[in-house]
Amino acid sequence: MTVAVTVSAEARPRPVYELAQVSKSYGERVVALESVDLVLREGEFHSVIGSSGCGKSTLLKIMAGLTPPSKGRVMLAGTPVLGARADIGMMFQQATLFPWRTTLQNILLPVEVREGRAAAETAAARARILLELVGLKGFEDTYPSQLSGGMAQRAAICRMLISEPNVLLLDEPFSALDEITRDFMNMELQRICRERNASAFLVTHSIAEAVILSDIVHVMSSRPGRIVRSIPIALPRPRTLDMTTLPLFGEYVGVIRGLLDKGAFL
Ligand SMILES: Nc1ncnc2c1ncn2[C@@H]1O[C@H](COP(=O)(O)OP(=O)(O)OP(=O)(O)O)[C@@H](O)[C@H]1O
Ligand SMILES: [Mg+2]
Repeated sequence: MTVAVTVSAEARPRPVYELAQVSKSYGERVVALESVDLVLREGEFHSVIGSSGCGKSTLLKIMAGLTPPSKGRVMLAGTPVLGARADIGMMFQQATLFPWRTTLQNILLPVEVREGRAAAETAAARARILLELVGLKGFEDTYPSQLSGGMAQRAAICRMLISEPNVLLLDEPFSALDEITRDFMNMELQRICRERNASAFLVTHSIAEAVILSDIVHVMSSRPGRIVRSIPIALPRPRTLDMTTLPLFGEYVGVIRGLLDKGAFL
């Protein structure tokens, strides 16, 4: 008896996000995104890299339902994204903490809004654990004006994780962190995603960060933002920081840098 070993299409993880021909114009002159197609599957980590102003944040806001596409279709978990969705966690390019709330109160805000004050009080213990994880123990009762940029970003990461979302949309979440903390946070991000089989879509300017974290790196051209190549990263999982010394890692970095040099960054 022979056993079929071919992997059928159904064996692939189910799609979480499906974007088809998504375009976005702001007014008549700015075409921020053009014909973006992508599929993010359950448990996958994708990154998008491209020059400043090429439409990365616009893409993320469309995926989150915060801004509508001018054309095309966005599906999340099989349903069209028509407005802000509660089933995702989003981290914006700016930390956007409310200045009148303490660090702890900021982190608990999504729980409070969604489930009420009592639920937020219950979640406080979890928030404290998250704060400790990101090195902010002792800053629970501090107001945002007394935090550094990197500390505010770390607080915003906790705020995103408190609702335990299965889909994470991340807009340069670690850009204000020093390299050592950033490496640590990247590895933590990988761990959190693996433990929860969460799907993540990350905007970054760092080629190395994109390669070490991702299953697929999407390289975008400058305006209008188009995905010029989607590169599968075949490094084994879990990824470790010492993989950055592997020749294969260097090859991926070289390919992406070449694409960006060739025009994606122009
Ligand atoms: N609300 C808006 N109204 C008008 N134009 C906008 C708006 N938001 C973004 N744009 C324009 O759309 C283009 C893409 O902006 P976007 O913020 O998506 O870029 P980005 O790739 O995230 O850049 P960066 O790497 O600098 O964060 C830019 O030309 C920007 O000026
Ligand atoms: Mg941006």
